[in-house]
Amino acid sequence: MTPESAPSLRQLLAFYLDAGVDCALNDEPVNRLLDDEIVAPAEPQPREAPAARAEIKRAPAPVQRPGAAPPSPEAAIASARAAAATAPTLEALRALMEQFDGCALRSTATRLVFADGNPQARLMLVGEAPGRDEDIEGLPFVGRSGKLLDLMLAAIGLDRSKVYIANVIPWRPPGNRTPTPQEIQICLPFIQRQIELVDPDIVLTLGNPATQTLLQTRDGIMKSRGRWTDYNTGTRTIRAIATFHPAYLLRSPAYKRMTWMDLRAVAQALEALPGKAAN
Ligand code: URA
Repeated sequence: MTPESAPSLRQLLAFYLDAGVDCALNDEPVNRLLDDEIVAPAEPQPREAPAARAEIKRAPAPVQRPGAAPPSPEAAIASARAAAATAPTLEALRALMEQFDGCALRSTATRLVFADGNPQARLMLVGEAPGRDEDIEGLPFVGRSGKLLDLMLAAIGLDRSKVYIANVIPWRPPGNRTPTPQEIQICLPFIQRQIELVDPDIVLTLGNPATQTLLQTRDGIMKSRGRWTDYNTGTRTIRAIATFHPAYLLRSPAYKRMTWMDLRAVAQALEALPGKAAN
């Protein structure tokens, strides 16, 4: 490589960012090709889970059994389905998702982002997948789009104590890329079971991927938003409606007006429910 063809620092950083490497774990770089043993710094690093802070010995690559091929997508989907069906509670579902190794996103994400809010809520919101902030905190919608989501909820008198929030994909895709159809199919049984266990009266999907996946439509969000549809949880049929994803609204604020109409429709539907209160 000649000095002229060598990438600039900016290009290198852009490359790392695209690959999902967007924050430093230690102050000093670690040459993992040289060191046999890596000792974590004395100061705990905020991103690491407590168990990971202790001395880290160089171990064989995680979960890659020698010679063992990763499960085929079909096998992974079947195993997600079988596992999800066995979860009798949300906590059991979370526990088995923590262990599930059929989705490669689990190994690139920092942690599982399971849900936030009130499991007794009558309204459940479903987004696409965690981003960087969610991956760090382990909660859905805590970054910029989450702040906007909180404002959207407040506009109809709701907050996180009155709704339940989850994502179709519970692990952050590297660099916030769009999840692949395969990843969505592998994770689908988990969110379906999560909806069944929460048993809300209304599901609100945020953005295209969540809407197309859960509401089984090929229509884009411009067409599918604001349209009531039936959703079968597995035990009963509830109502579902789609609206724009808050991240999209941050880029295209002109669509906030339509989102407001969708939120009003949700508020009215909640009002009309027997027993009325939002949760
Ligand atoms: N976008 C999503 O779809 N989900 C999150 O949790 C955060 C951003």
